[in-house]
Amino acid sequence: MEQLEIKLSKHLKEKPKSENELGFGHIFTDHMFLMEHSAEKGWHNAVVKPFEDFTLSPAAAVFHYAQTIFEGLKAYPGLRMFRPWDNMARLQNSARRMCIPEFDEKFVLEAMYELVRVDKDWIPKMEGTSLYIRPTIMAVDPFLGVHASSSYYFFIILSPSGFYYADGVKPIKIFVEDTYVRAVIGGVGHIKAGGNYAASIYAGDAATAKGYAQVLWLDAHEHRFVEEVGSMNIMFKINGELYTPPLRGSVLPGITRDSTIRLAKDRGITVHEEPIAIDELYKASLDGSLEEVFGTGTAAVISSVGELTWKDKKIVVNGGKMGQLTQELYDELTGIQYGKRPDKFGWTVQL
Ligand code: COI
Repeated sequence: MEQLEIKLSKHLKEKPKSENELGFGHIFTDHMFLMEHSAEKGWHNAVVKPFEDFTLSPAAAVFHYAQTIFEGLKAYPGLRMFRPWDNMARLQNSARRMCIPEFDEKFVLEAMYELVRVDKDWIPKMEGTSLYIRPTIMAVDPFLGVHASSSYYFFIILSPSGFYYADGVKPIKIFVEDTYVRAVIGGVGHIKAGGNYAASIYAGDAATAKGYAQVLWLDAHEHRFVEEVGSMNIMFKINGELYTPPLRGSVLPGITRDSTIRLAKDRGITVHEEPIAIDELYKASLDGSLEEVFGTGTAAVISSVGELTWKDKKIVVNGGKMGQLTQELYDELTGIQYGKRPDKFGWTVQL
């Protein structure tokens, strides 16, 4: 079993003056977690230490072949966290798929708690803000052959953050991408591999240039069935029931996705995890049965979608406004996360 060393920073940084302007992922706290892996020692040298840059060989495997995985979760005021053990389990699953050595989930979970306790004064308090936590593992062997590295860094950094989308909770506009694809079944779309996100930037940038916040990916085979947005899973309310794409290997098994499904079912709403064709969605928008659309993700929380553009067709959802169910699920989920509503599912932990 690893030991966790704590080395506190002697030079604490100035905290952001206004929680209104945190944005997402720009600011980092005083400390980080780092643990190393080598062939000889396995995972070792676990430490919570001052936040600092790495010195790596330009030949480090991560720079060339992207053998890297990550997670995203949050700490809320009152030192609360939401399903952190599920993030650790998903990271372990990503590690297996990317030939990264398995780690002791319980140990890392405890080390993460310790890091958050050390930097607890960085947890913002304003509504809609939180301390975003980014656990990452990367391959650092200085070697250009394509095979699994034997040395790795496992690090966790913390970033006080506000809303993921620049416009806050305002419903977003999404471009349905029908040329490029995000993932194929049998590939790595179901894990949080860094390369998935790098590969999404090209289409994302083109959509941003046209005024969209994000891209909605379609399946790689027929370019017809909805997959996910990349930074979030997607859900549609049609005729009072909820529809979301199934987890068949090309969609990330979102923890917020799962929580939202359970909250919706708990409210007596029927939830379908089944393939959703974009042309059927378009028809549903024309006949008025498409009532609400929203995305779910750790960073995105529950984000209302007000407009989708597919080819030359514009789908305006609920008059471009956040729907009632979206609002209710947002209130319920964030109520549990911020400790304002009862947590009957046992999803939260207070450190
Ligand atoms: C998250 O929601 O935590 C994510 O990892 C998505 C994104 C910011 C890359």
